[in-house]
Amino acid sequence: MLQQLESTYQQAAAELDALTDAAALHDWESRYIGKKGAVTLLLRSTGQLPKEDRAAFGQRANAIKELLDTAYAEREKLIQEQALARDLEEGQIDITLPGRAHPTGGLHPSTQTFRELYRIWGDMGFQVYRSRDVETDEMNFTLLNFPEHHPARDMQDTFFTKTEGVILRTHTSPGQIRSMRELGADGAQPVRVILPGMCYRNEQVTARSEMQFHQLEGVVVGKNIRMSDLKGTFVEFARRMFGQEAKVRFRASYFPFTEPSMEVDVECFLCGGQGCRMCKYSGWLEIAGAGMIHPTVLRNGGYDPAVWSGFAFGMGPERQTILKHRIDDIRYFWGNDLRFLEQF
Ligand code: DAH
Repeated sequence: MLQQLESTYQQAAAELDALTDAAALHDWESRYIGKKGAVTLLLRSTGQLPKEDRAAFGQRANAIKELLDTAYAEREKLIQEQALARDLEEGQIDITLPGRAHPTGGLHPSTQTFRELYRIWGDMGFQVYRSRDVETDEMNFTLLNFPEHHPARDMQDTFFTKTEGVILRTHTSPGQIRSMRELGADGAQPVRVILPGMCYRNEQVTARSEMQFHQLEGVVVGKNIRMSDLKGTFVEFARRMFGQEAKVRFRASYFPFTEPSMEVDVECFLCGGQGCRMCKYSGWLEIAGAGMIHPTVLRNGGYDPAVWSGFAFGMGPERQTILKHRIDDIRYFWGNDLRFLEQF
């Protein structure tokens, strides 16, 4: 039995030296020095030995038990220290790592174009006037010299509401009447404003037309405002928007609320007037509709057309954004696809 005790001791000590984790250590304890451990059982069976051998065996067994208890405690401490060291090592905060970027929103491309337009027109003395999206048929058409049943109403397919005579504005032009009436103080004060906003048309949505889009309207009313003022204003606008070299041309057109009416083109800034896909090989890009405010419209705005005159214009920020960034489908604007939006 003494031999068995010694070999158990050798084995237990050797195994203990090789242990590196708490679970294996716990297992070792129960196999050797726990209540039913081999060494414990041997120690308990001292009584079975012949009387003369008991003292020597008991002494040795107790000594071994003590040695193993001590070694166990040391090993437990070592394993705990190693685990702590490992935790500290692994849990260390690496302050050289770059921080996590917080995603922030960006400005919609149309908003960016609007802000550029506000800056330019603002520098040229225009105030922003906000006008409503839900309009009356009267403001949107009648007061702008679209008589009832006039075919010009068909140029703009309208969204109607359940309320008779209430519609979604098809253009920002009704703001002309509102701004003249409000700021003109019954035809006594001049007006120089831009009117930005969303417009709505009941149209088939395609790559080239959306049922909602922005416009930026401009209204100038004063004494002695002439066509040359309109032209000069646009030449200056084009320089500020497209660069000092920008060339502008005016083409005769028709709108019920202006007379004469025109379309404003700027020399294609993509090809420098050479002709490309964007300008449909004409060398020119249309940037606005414009004209001298029709006397009837001035009157509807509260002015005496014998004394007052003015010009107006309307441009499309989406169209300008499309040209600037060569976007090939207008549906991206309200599609809320981050893959599109994040490019701006
Ligand atoms: N309201 C016109 C449209 O939506 C654009 C326009 C043309 C506005 C000429 C104007 C203007 O103020 O003078 O097609």
